[in-house]
Amino acid sequence: MSKVKIAIAGVLGRMGKNLIESAQFNDGVDIVGVFDKSPITEEQLQSMNLKFDIATTIDAAFDQADVVIDFTSPSALFMFTENAVAHKAGLVVGTTGLEKKHFELLEQTSKATKVFYAPNMSLGVNSFFQIARNAASKLKDYDIEIIESHHRFKKDSPSGTAIKLGEEIASELGRDNKDFVFDRQQQIEERKKFDIGFSSVRGGNIAGEHTIIFHGEHEIIEVTHRAFNRKIFSDGAVNASVWLASQTNGYYNYKDLLKS
Ligand SMILES: NC(=O)c1ccc[n+]([C@@H]2O[C@H](COP(=O)([O-])OP(=O)(O)OC[C@H]3O[C@@H](n4cnc5c(N)ncnc54)[C@H](O)[C@@H]3O)[C@@H](O)[C@H]2O)c1
Repeated sequence: MSKVKIAIAGVLGRMGKNLIESAQFNDGVDIVGVFDKSPITEEQLQSMNLKFDIATTIDAAFDQADVVIDFTSPSALFMFTENAVAHKAGLVVGTTGLEKKHFELLEQTSKATKVFYAPNMSLGVNSFFQIARNAASKLKDYDIEIIESHHRFKKDSPSGTAIKLGEEIASELGRDNKDFVFDRQQQIEERKKFDIGFSSVRGGNIAGEHTIIFHGEHEIIEVTHRAFNRKIFSDGAVNASVWLASQTNGYYNYKDLLKS
């Protein structure tokens, strides 16, 4: 089987570096392009063990790749989706902090090419979503709180993964994000029965920790996923690229990948 040609956006970032290593370790892919906000130098290509003749502009990378992996910033999505459609390249999006307008854009883009979005690309975390649903279905009357911790550089909060955990739990319980509580400073009142509360911790170099706490009257159940490093996300994104390359146009998520 021929290798899937991938390009990596935001290659100079923290995830970009991990994506290069994951891709170089994966026999199913070839890196045909890398780019960032500023031009990539030959020294940088050399330090990443990449060939000098690969694409280093957005246009060329989207042109040559079967799939482009994006872990950058929400504002970049407008340019990337336009390029994905123009060059018929698949798009794997791991960028978090997306808003309604970005999701509408991904949905629209998926009519013309293939799009995969996951606020967390780790296999373990996506299994954790399933565990969260199972626990919530049994602990319907428990007070549910979600705590997430990340490195000091993370800009958005709560994390996309924490929100997704909340959404999985809410949908299992027939509720929705109207029950989400993010800022208790503004809310001088008792906790409402169906609240799903979110708290964020920022510091050090934490790759990502998520805990769901189910508070009963006489017991507490805590379920935690702890990422040791960012490899779980980059390995997941590269695997998702291989999977996406063989799909037809459409808007896919991790559940689709796990089903097949
Ligand atoms: N889905 C997941 O599993 C997962 C895991 C980790 C991080 N993330 C998300 O990935 C994103 C990036 O995280 P990071 O820690 O690597 O950040 P980072 O700041 O270290 O790197 C981002 C890189 O993207 C580049 N960039 C920004 N705009 C660009 C543009 N228009 N064109 C090209 N490059 C551009 C920046 O120059 C930078 O090099 C964040 O949204 C983060 O929350 C998602």
